Amino acid sequence: MTRDSRRDLLGRIPAVGAGLALMAWGPAAEAQAKETKEKKEEEISPTEDLMREHGVLNRILLIYEEAVRRLTRRDELPPETLQEAATIVRTFVEDYHEKLEEEFLFPRFEKADQQVELVKTLRSQHQAGRTLTDQIRSLAKLPGMKDEDDRRKLSRSLRLFIRMYRPHEAREDTVLFPAFRKIVSPNEFDSLGEQFEEREHRLFGEDGFARMVDRVAAIEKKLGIYDLAQFTPKGD
Ligand SMILES: [Fe+2]
Ligand SMILES: [Fe+2]
Repeated sequence: MTRDSRRDLLGRIPAVGAGLALMAWGPAAEAQAKETKEKKEEEISPTEDLMREHGVLNRILLIYEEAVRRLTRRDELPPETLQEAATIVRTFVEDYHEKLEEEFLFPRFEKADQQVELVKTLRSQHQAGRTLTDQIRSLAKLPGMKDEDDRRKLSRSLRLFIRMYRPHEAREDTVLFPAFRKIVSPNEFDSLGEQFEEREHRLFGEDGFARMVDRVAAIEKKLGIYDLAQFTPKGD
């Protein structure tokens, strides 16, 4: 093969490749590409998933705050609202969200010898949260809520819960999750996102997250704290 003919052949290779690509480009391939694109858009990264779950927890903290306000002022507090909120904390936050952190994030940090002290504190706070949720669930019942001493104990458990979880989730959002991206490969990161979604769907159904948000909104409506505009300062 002469030098010129070799150059000629090499020059043709990309053209052959493009031809093959063109052959594979039919309506079926187009549909497949569209589906892949849609799937990619639907995919949520593992940390985004955990952060929007923190959003649900934040809305529960607002409900708990309203409960404390009513307990302190001796205002009416329908016990089922607090029961429902505490049930969401148990099933969605503790048995799902925190389990993901404990199974998939914390051990990776420990193995990488990163954020070890923070992980230790977060882990023990999950445990303390469970104890508080047990107390809240057992106290948020009639006739217990009529008893002055029980109302005081309930109010205390709620305040301790709020006090711990605000900084807890804020530290995860601002320190732990950003650091997590750096200790796992992009492939592992993507695959964790899929695993988290899969578990969420298995435990709570395909639209599990949206339904959880709806349940929280229903409690907010019962307590009159749903309308977001009410929190805007009115001005002088
Ligand atoms: Fe956590
Ligand atoms: Fe968390």
